[in-house]
Amino acid sequence: MLNEVSKIRRGGKRVAVYPGSFDPATYGHLDIIHRSSKIFDNLIVAVIDNPNKKPFFTTSQRIKILKDAIKEKNVTVESFNGLLVNFMKKKNASIIVRGLRAVSDFEYEFQMALTNRKMYNNIETIFLTPAEKWTYISSTLVKEIAKLGGEIKCFVPGNVEKLLKKPRS
Ligand code: PNS
Repeated sequence: MLNEVSKIRRGGKRVAVYPGSFDPATYGHLDIIHRSSKIFDNLIVAVIDNPNKKPFFTTSQRIKILKDAIKEKNVTVESFNGLLVNFMKKKNASIIVRGLRAVSDFEYEFQMALTNRKMYNNIETIFLTPAEKWTYISSTLVKEIAKLGGEIKCFVPGNVEKLLKKPRS
C-alpha cells in the first residue's frame, strides 16, 4: 500500500493536506504548518466549511486569519466541504497532516486516520507534535478566554483579536 501512496504526486510534487476547523488558528496550528512545510513539497491547509459545526468565525474569516499569518511559500489555504478523502482525491494529495498535542487527542485522531484510510486506501495520516510551549493551546480555550475578557495575544495571531472585537452579523 505504501507504494500506492508514494505514487500520488501533483506535477511530480508530494502534496499534503492539513485539515481542520481552525476556529480560530492558534500558534499551535501555525507551528504544525511550519513543520509540515519543511517536509512536503506543497501543503494545503484545508479549512472545513461546515455550517452544522456552528463555527465562531466564518469560513472566510478563518481563511483570512491563516493567510495573513502564514509566511511559508509552499503553503496554500483553501476551504472544503464534504468528505476529506474526496478533497484529497481532487487535489491529488496523499498525506493528511494532523497535530497531536497530548494523549487525549489520540483516540479521536486514531479513529479518523483509520476511517479515512478505509475509505481511501491511497492516503496516510501523519501526526506531528508542536513545540512543547504550544501543546496546551486549543481554539476552544482561546474563545472562552476572549469571551470572558482575558488576554489572548500570546495564543493567536494578531488579527484574531481584531476579528473577535468586530460586531458579528
Ligand atoms: O479541527 P478539527 O475540528 O479537529 O478537524 C476535524 C476535521 C475537519 C479534520 C474532520 O471533521 C473532517 O475531516 N471532516 C470532513 C468530513 C469527513 O471526511 N468526515 C469523516 C472523517 S473520518
